[in-house]
Parts: sequence; structure tokens; C-alpha cells
Amino acid sequence: MSAGLVPTMGALHAGHRALLGAARNENQRVVMSLFVNPTQFGEGEDFERYPRDQARDRAIAAEEGADEVFMPTVEQMYPPGFSTRVGVGGLGERLEGAARPGHFEGVATVVLKLLHLVAPDRVYFGQKDAQQVAVVRRMVRDLDVAVQVRVVATVREPDGLALSSRNVYLDERERRRAASLHRALAARDPSLVEGELEYFEVVDPDSFEPVAARPGALVVAAARFGTTRLIDNLIVEES
Ligand code: PAJ
Repeated sequence: MSAGLVPTMGALHAGHRALLGAARNENQRVVMSLFVNPTQFGEGEDFERYPRDQARDRAIAAEEGADEVFMPTVEQMYPPGFSTRVGVGGLGERLEGAARPGHFEGVATVVLKLLHLVAPDRVYFGQKDAQQVAVVRRMVRDLDVAVQVRVVATVREPDGLALSSRNVYLDERERRRAASLHRALAARDPSLVEGELEYFEVVDPDSFEPVAARPGALVVAAARFGTTRLIDNLIVEES
């Protein structure tokens, strides 16, 4: 019986629903993990205030046809004495990794643990977090993990803003300005970002090294709107 795993931190929205839908279409059994992973949050980030609503998330998972919600505790995932970390080298240290030291080690470590615990045939990630996709693909290849990595297109609001659990932090004015991130990526013009820009680059989708714009390259950006930090990306199309 084939199984698909959708790893999440909860606060589910239509982006997560799209991953669950893809997993439902391609597998006989769907498992969603719900774990706000402390090791991928940096000092001073939003681990404590990250939105948590277990009842709502379970209802959404059921609506989208998940057969099981795997919800480990922090103690189960990181018992006393836990000390092993999975790192993917330079790929995990550029861009998001530079802005958030240790973030991708936290992600790779928890994803590898989830893959071992659930042992799915396929695992689902959103294109929204493109560098996370590259990190997971690299880890799966380098460590011979027997799983197929599936990537689902970014789900957006009508004005282009990529859905994110962190969008709830935006006030009305920040929410309006946040749509400029997608417009700037589409125009490949960082000056269109109506927030505090952290990075805006064209990169190779596997290495995240800077490249000249060409079809298949990724335009990636991070910006702050008020105190909320958002990331987004677009694939450069054939012109
Ligand atoms: P989380 O932010 O909950 O995201 C779970 C999955 O949903 C990720 O693969 C993410 O890329 C995807 N996703 C988020 N917004 C999306 C959107 N607008 N469209 C499509 N997919 C979207 O990413 C994580 O959790 C964690 O790092 C995790 C992989 C669970 C490891 O802790």
C-alpha cells in the first residue's frame, strides 16, 4: 500500500490543502505530520507565538482526506541527550540559510526523522519554500533516502501574495503592501518591493548559487513588512 507524507507545522491554509490533495491523488494512504519544530527557529524568531490550532488543523486534514495526523511532542522528537544534526553544506548556508543560521539543519534533521518514522513512498513540499525543496532533495540524494520528493506549485491569494501561516501577523496596511513581493518577482525588479528588502536574487534551483536569468532559474526574495518576514520565489519562464 503506497503512502504519502505531508510534513507541516500546522496553521493550515490552502497551500497545505494543495499538498494534501496531491498526496491524496497519488497514494493509497496519506499521513500529515504536524510538528512546530523548535530546531529550525532561530533565537528571537517566532517559535513561541507561531499560530497553533490543533482542532482546526485536524479538521482540515480530515477534509482533505488525510488518513492520519502524526503529532509528536518535542520530547519525543528531541529527548534529553539528542545531539545529531543533518547538514547539507553550502546550499544550506546561502540566502535563507544566511539570514537564519541553523534553519536548514533544523529542517533537514526533522524531515529525515519524519521520513524514518513514517516511511512514506512519497513526500510532499511546496514550491513556496524553494530552498527547503533544494535542501531536502540534496539530503535525499546524498543519504540514499528511499522516498520520492514531490513538489507542489505555490498557492496564492488573488493579488499574488503567496499563502503563508505568517500572513496572519500582517496588519491591513502591511497585507496590502505584501502583494508587492510577487509583483517585484514577476517583473524581476527589486525596487517594486514596498517593504524592507533582505535579498532579491536569480539563482540555480538546485545549488542556489547566483546565475544569469534563464528559463528554469529561480527569482527568490525575502522582505519584511513591519516585523513580519516573508519569502517568495518564481521560476523564470521561456520569454
Ligand atoms: P510549513 O511552513 O507548515 O509548510 C508545510 C509545507 O507547506 C511546506 O512544504 C511548504 O512549502 C508548503 N507551503 C507553504 N505555503 C505554501 C503555499 N502558499 N503554496 C504551496 N505550498 C505551501 O515548511 C515547513 O512547514 C517546515 O519547514 C517543515 C517542512 C514541516 C519541517 O518542519
